[in-house]
Amino acid sequence: MQESCSLIIFGSTGNLATYKLLPALYHIEAAQRLDPASRILGFGRRQWSDEDWRGEVRASLGERLGSTLDEDALARLLSRLRFVSGDLERPEDFVRLAERLRSDDDLPDNLMSYLAVAPRHYGHIVDQLAANGLNAQASGWSRLVVEKPFGFDLESASILDQRLQRCFSEDQIYRIDHYLGKSTVQNILVFRFANLILEPLWNRNYIDHVQISHAESRGIEERAGFYDGVGAMRDMIQSHLLQMLTLVAMEPPPSLDAEALRDEKVKVLRSIRAIPREAVHAQAFRAQYGPGRSGDTKLAGYRDEPGVGHNSTTETYAALKLYIDNWRWRNVPFYLRTGKRLGQTNSLIAIRFKHPPQQLFRATAIEQLKPNWLLLNIQPNECMRIEIQVKQPGLEMRAQTERLDASSCTLPPEHIDAYEALILDVIEGDHTHFLRYDEVNWAWRVVDPILKLWATERDFIHTYPAGSWGPVEANRLFDREDQEWRNAM
Ligand code: BG6
Repeated sequence: MQESCSLIIFGSTGNLATYKLLPALYHIEAAQRLDPASRILGFGRRQWSDEDWRGEVRASLGERLGSTLDEDALARLLSRLRFVSGDLERPEDFVRLAERLRSDDDLPDNLMSYLAVAPRHYGHIVDQLAANGLNAQASGWSRLVVEKPFGFDLESASILDQRLQRCFSEDQIYRIDHYLGKSTVQNILVFRFANLILEPLWNRNYIDHVQISHAESRGIEERAGFYDGVGAMRDMIQSHLLQMLTLVAMEPPPSLDAEALRDEKVKVLRSIRAIPREAVHAQAFRAQYGPGRSGDTKLAGYRDEPGVGHNSTTETYAALKLYIDNWRWRNVPFYLRTGKRLGQTNSLIAIRFKHPPQQLFRATAIEQLKPNWLLLNIQPNECMRIEIQVKQPGLEMRAQTERLDASSCTLPPEHIDAYEALILDVIEGDHTHFLRYDEVNWAWRVVDPILKLWATERDFIHTYPAGSWGPVEANRLFDREDQEWRNAM
């Protein structure tokens, strides 16, 4: 059981709270991992009573979780909910919030302020929390949870961070990258560092290249307000994909202590070879979905989505080639790729090994041996596969690819996502799966030169049909002809 706390959600009726945070809180409740005294406060502009908010949450969880919803757990969760009407722009509403937190004995002193709002509101909320003393509780702790994106580029991230750090110290700030809360992403660490057999192979002597792909069949849905002008490089690569890259590439940390782990991740980011302006087109590619189909259904192009400008050149697809200049990885390309409205929703880390040094089978019917692959499927199914070459049964000397799948590959996808673990970590005060500011800063340094050049090229963007696997032109990133994208398992 955890310590009790008051969790305030700023943006409690928004997309993130509705689709991610409240379902996660329900799962934590169902698992009986919340202290009975903990309370959840929604802060929002609606003139709602506690009962009104409970009704909304009941309906939206019912819609999302359907028949899996446990009525007892739901009733326990709803009984914790309190609603505070307030406008993020009005200082007097923060005064009322602070008064309520101090005067209501039902609300625990430990305070988690969760900013589930657009980043432009972060600075103002943080200032108001501090102005009302909510950044330092007389008894108990006060912790601030902020969502990505942290800024829009390197410079704005630094300005935002200075503003947060004026009111909250680094150990009070929890910067969420929700991929670090996914069990399958955390499994990269276990897979690498709990198994001795991998380590001798895990380097430039044996690995030809690494691919990290996140594909979504969904379009941008109703998120144009956030997405247009931001694009895939900022939305996915600067954060989630670079985080997965650090876990694949890092050295074993001296311990699992938050600082030790984050030190190693920062070393990877710092070792990524900087991309000079003249190399941007050789190492990065962007595109946008045009109209297309999924089966019999027609899909709109990005520019026809509600709220998107007709001339928008925001990328919905981005691919990037990186090199990590250290002893382990020098000259091994890491290909990162993400896109919306692709053929299937799937996230995959694919590691391709080199060919054996000797062509022993040249004089046989085996024409060309395929290389070994190690595939770690992150979602929707957790699955690990090794592809090896074996002899085909029969008289001929022919080879075929054998796929060794982990038993977990046949399990249905987990309904627990990522936020459950991360919320519990904040209550425990564990920073291991949150970003330290230097990580954010170095991740921006990786993508900044690309974003700067793309910002000057606003007249044209490649397109790909919605529902396809993206533009063929992205293949130009590959170092060699025998490299190609692995889409899904
Ligand atoms: C978010 C991005 O951070 O991650 C979204 O803003 C993206 O655009 C989402 O769809 C993907 O997360 P998940 O957990 O659905 O893979």
